[in-house]
Amino acid sequence: MKRKLSLFAAILLVFSLILTACGSKSTNSSSSKSGQGKLEIFSWWTAGGEADGLKALIKVFQNKYPDIKVQNAAVAGGAGTNAKAVLATRMQGNDPPSTFQVHGGAELMTWVNSGKMQPLNDLYKKNGWENKFPKDLMDMVSKDGKIYAIPVDIHRGNVLWYNKKIFEENHLQPPKTFDDFFKVADKLKAKGITPLGLADKEIWPATMIFENILLAELGPDKYKELWTGKIPFDSPKVKESAEIFKKMLGYINDDHSSRAWQDGSQLVADGKAAMNIMGDFAKGYYESLKLKPNKDYGWVASPGTEGDFMVITDTFGLPKGVKDPGDVKKFLTVLGSVEGQDAFNPKKGSIPARVDADQSKYDVYGKAAMKDFKKDALTPSLAHGSAAPESYLTKVNQAVNVFVTQKNVDQFIKSLKDASKDLK
Ligand code: GAL
Repeated sequence: MKRKLSLFAAILLVFSLILTACGSKSTNSSSSKSGQGKLEIFSWWTAGGEADGLKALIKVFQNKYPDIKVQNAAVAGGAGTNAKAVLATRMQGNDPPSTFQVHGGAELMTWVNSGKMQPLNDLYKKNGWENKFPKDLMDMVSKDGKIYAIPVDIHRGNVLWYNKKIFEENHLQPPKTFDDFFKVADKLKAKGITPLGLADKEIWPATMIFENILLAELGPDKYKELWTGKIPFDSPKVKESAEIFKKMLGYINDDHSSRAWQDGSQLVADGKAAMNIMGDFAKGYYESLKLKPNKDYGWVASPGTEGDFMVITDTFGLPKGVKDPGDVKKFLTVLGSVEGQDAFNPKKGSIPARVDADQSKYDVYGKAAMKDFKKDALTPSLAHGSAAPESYLTKVNQAVNVFVTQKNVDQFIKSLKDASKDLK
């Protein structure tokens, strides 16, 4: 019996060795073939933190596939301000990058609906990923049972970052409500300190402040109904939100319109502003400056949004018509792996999209964000492409741009209402 078993084990061993050999042969041959081309990874990750995360992810990939040439095709401009336009031109010209950064939800669905993306159900199956990502995220990358992208991260959009030293020296508590915010802001202003750092050279950081106010004022359920058209943009709560936004704009730095988003985080880092409302890409940026959470900077949910989590998720998929889909799938496999996500996210400031990542790789901020993501009400970000179609977002950004200088609430509400025709 024993001998029979060991004979069986030997056969099994030989068989598995043959299989491994075949597997590695096919990997090598396909990678040397594709090594002639290049794997073009398209994103807008060029700032401190985000660029570091991407580099770390590419490194994991290159260690596994040294023969595949990678081109980091990042186009500068936070939130994809420039990259999205470049991508659109390329997609329309049937010249897609091998894979590209795209927010889960409405933004990804633009490409899915126009028939430009390939489903990736086979890749999920092959890697046993069906239960490795939260359902809310899977819904954002799926349509009619087909999965079109792999989420690499989860960012939180409703965070207020503050300079610890300024708050301590002035005996202030980070604000949890708008009342708190304005009290704190008045005290800071009286001391000659800019209360709220804003960096809206590209307008979306201002749009983020507004969406966070909407979330606070409407609550998560009604906030979501804005995007289905159930709650109109001239409803009293939206008007109130615009009033609060207007009041907040009275506490910002004069040079806001000449600063890129990370320069807003920098203002807080340098003590030139006490607070900044920004997604936790700011955490990645602070990480790149080697600043320490809870020492150099603190954070709370943006006013009125404790218990809510404004979800921003970056995903990557497989466009139709790419030269070497096999190589792209290899990259996506690394991007969706625990190893890949745990190399990327600690540098990026985000938490892993996977539910089974190694928590010990994340610091006090990351651990807190993971906990909140599990218990909070999750809402999609408008400013980061998930809540509504790009055409609507473009119009909202234009309206916000005008509002930041003119501060005309009625005109702002009218523009939002007019634009809402684009909500489908
Ligand atoms: C967001 C993106 C983040 C971060 C940020 C700033 O749209 O989801 O990953 O890169 O822009 O560029």
